[in-house]
Amino acid sequence: MKVLRTVLDLRRLAREKRSAGKSIGVVPTMGALHSGHASLIRAARQQCDVAVVTIFVNPTQFGPNEDFARYPRMFEADCALAKGAGADVVFAPAVEEMYPAGAATFVEVEGLSGRLDGASRPGHFRGVATVVTKLLVAAEADRAYFGQKDAAQVAVLRRLVKDLRIGTEIVVCPIVREADGLALSSRNVYLSTEERRQALALSRAVRRVEALAAQGERRRDVLLAAARAEFAKEPAVRADYIELVDWATLEPVERAEAGTLFAVAAWVGTTRLIDNAVIG
Ligand code: PAJ
Repeated sequence: MKVLRTVLDLRRLAREKRSAGKSIGVVPTMGALHSGHASLIRAARQQCDVAVVTIFVNPTQFGPNEDFARYPRMFEADCALAKGAGADVVFAPAVEEMYPAGAATFVEVEGLSGRLDGASRPGHFRGVATVVTKLLVAAEADRAYFGQKDAAQVAVLRRLVKDLRIGTEIVVCPIVREADGLALSSRNVYLSTEERRQALALSRAVRRVEALAAQGERRRDVLLAAARAEFAKEPAVRADYIELVDWATLEPVERAEAGTLFAVAAWVGTTRLIDNAVIG
């Protein structure tokens, strides 16, 4: 497995592989890799000739009071996990490499960027859209792999590749969970033992809504009330949003139809966690 540090090296590799007729799959990450990331890498490995994992804690997607400085960084362990999952290349640039001195160009997906996580994290999706654009273009990605875990991010990035006419197919992979239901996240390491238990409010709410929808319940009020009732059992968990939205527009909907997104975000202590289900 190769480790590349510069955009020029990534671009050279991409050009060489593509001119040899090989397809390139890119898995953008911020590192602190876990089995959720590994599932994306394995999918890229299976579907593409070359699997590129990018590891970059992207400063522009963090708010001023967020966890950029303390975000877990564990490059050696990440490389071992990426290699084990079948990565051919790890691209791990420095901040100045992705944002050269004087960088003044940003990508804004209007409307979508202000909904769900974008509403509580102003500027977050602008940072995500900007860095993902840079990565997909530099890697000449045929496909890029993202987790349904970050469902609003998926909506933003699907819109982005359509609007900018970027020829990368966005592939969405299912949420990988712990045995008790908690969605894997690099931020779970912040949780104390007690918070780890409280955090199950999110996956319980998701499961409850999934179960009701599977029984044919469609009404927004009923589904959201059931989710809120799960959160009420863990008063220490502060819901940020509990929403039923159209997955493409992220606008609230009155009825859950196939493909509708149920999404939650909540604070457990000082850690913000998210979870969701797509109605079947
Ligand atoms: P990060 O949080 O590292 O996540 C990288 C990818 O892994 C995302 O597509 C995310 O949805 C996916 N992922 C995380 N947890 C998962 C889980 N439990 N199951 C399945 N997939 C999971 O998302 C980002 O980084 C950044 O915003 C990024 C796209 C890299 C831009 O900086």
